[in-house]
Amino acid sequence: MVLGLPPRQMGDDVLAGSLAVNLRFWDRWKGMNMADMGSIERYLEGQREEHLGALCEWLRIPSVSADPGQSEAMLQAADWVQDRFRKLGWKTEKLGSGGPPLVYAESPPVPGKPVVLVYGHYDVQPADPLELWKSPPFDPQVRDGNLYARGATDDKGQVLTHILSVAAWQESGQKLPLQIKFLIEGEEEQGSEVLGRTLPQIADRLKCDVIVISDSSQYAVGQPAITYGLRGIAYFELRVTGPKQDLHSGSFGGAVANPALALARLLTAIKDEEGRIQLPGFYDAVVPLDPVERRNWQQLPFDEKKFAAQLGVDQLVGETGYTALEQRWARPTFDCHGLMGGYQGEGGKTIIPSWAGAKISFRLVPNQTPQQVGQQLRQFVAQHSPPGVRVEVIDLHGGLGVVVDPNSPYMAAAQQAVTEGFGREAVLIREGGSIPIVANMVAHLKADVLLLGWGLDDDGAHSPNEKFHIADFHRGIRASSHLWNHLAGCSPRAQLQS
Ligand code: BES
Ligand code: MN
Repeated sequence: MVLGLPPRQMGDDVLAGSLAVNLRFWDRWKGMNMADMGSIERYLEGQREEHLGALCEWLRIPSVSADPGQSEAMLQAADWVQDRFRKLGWKTEKLGSGGPPLVYAESPPVPGKPVVLVYGHYDVQPADPLELWKSPPFDPQVRDGNLYARGATDDKGQVLTHILSVAAWQESGQKLPLQIKFLIEGEEEQGSEVLGRTLPQIADRLKCDVIVISDSSQYAVGQPAITYGLRGIAYFELRVTGPKQDLHSGSFGGAVANPALALARLLTAIKDEEGRIQLPGFYDAVVPLDPVERRNWQQLPFDEKKFAAQLGVDQLVGETGYTALEQRWARPTFDCHGLMGGYQGEGGKTIIPSWAGAKISFRLVPNQTPQQVGQQLRQFVAQHSPPGVRVEVIDLHGGLGVVVDPNSPYMAAAQQAVTEGFGREAVLIREGGSIPIVANMVAHLKADVLLLGWGLDDDGAHSPNEKFHIADFHRGIRASSHLWNHLAGCSPRAQLQS
């Protein structure tokens, strides 16, 4: 992992493309066991319906990791994906305990070639509010070239592209050119507790040169991207407690602190009007933006007005002195995800609620840690708690941000594969979302990371009417098929470093 490196400028892929064609010809001529990508592509064309059908099957299983009532569905979703590996004849096992199982599978070793670990998740976010879905979240439906269902893009549709691509290699009679391992977990949306705990014990088994993850987005419609950075996260619940029970607000209002108002005061004090976070020492560890990165991002087409309109807001609001891309990709921020407490039913009820709560999180950038931010939050709360109430800070989960080396040979291989799959060269971006386990895996496995997102910003991940653009699903499978070929042309990591 390399922090704060500027993205590489791509430019010589025409040359690289013709070189690749020549090499392929040369190798076939020599009678070597070279991949016949043409036959894989033809196979994929013939399997489009089948592939979409497979995704629909998986999406029908409501594997909502946040919902304790869906633990049966979690197991079903794990079984469903493990079954795909069984059908491939791969070694597969469920790992971990005390939560949704980790599904692990591996193809046979290929000596002298890099080892790939594909990571993804079979859990999905809760589907509520249900009434806003145009079709039921767990009854996948096709409309306007999109497949609508919870988990379509995040992450079942994306991780499935890699499973279908290895199947395509095998089914069209090709031997996979390198060893591929899969680790598909069921708790990514809840902070990967099982995997976090299990990782040290299974690090040997997961040993690899490069981790491939498709759980992010392209830059725009028709503009694929490779992501070299993700933000971290520190997630908490705040609980503000006042009187021992709800009180009549007429009898007592004016003389007793209102926990809902106290909470509101506390929340709004965390971020100022300029978008600066007020926790003591919050910015101490923050790596300032790299001028080269800033310049690169300014080259990316971005229309703030259009972006705001797409989100249904009249303007964008963020930290002063930074562009929207910078604010979203490389600056820390604070958000509130939900408020609890007090009367939430129809009509009016005049009470001073006994308590109020909030789900909140900070998005972090390298080198901030959730532990530090937790301490800073506790200190802030201790200093700013309004009188007459008690405030508790409860840790939910957290993870570090990552910035990976955009200049690795694996990155160049990915660039070629994405170009072949999507018909256009990828731009290098960072993204604001978090995959908390990535930094842990990098630390334990000492591997490179490729974040190859096939989704789109408007896919509605975590929102009602989540979708996956069906053309991108198929392009993702194609890009993934080519990826194995190009990665097999790279040296294992140990040789790169020597
Ligand atoms: N797929 C996302 C991560 C993501 C989102 C990457 C947008 C790039 C762009 C992932 O499934 C996710 O939503 N993660 C959670 C993690 C959290 C709950 C610990 C997130 O970012 O909120
Ligand atoms: Mn995801």
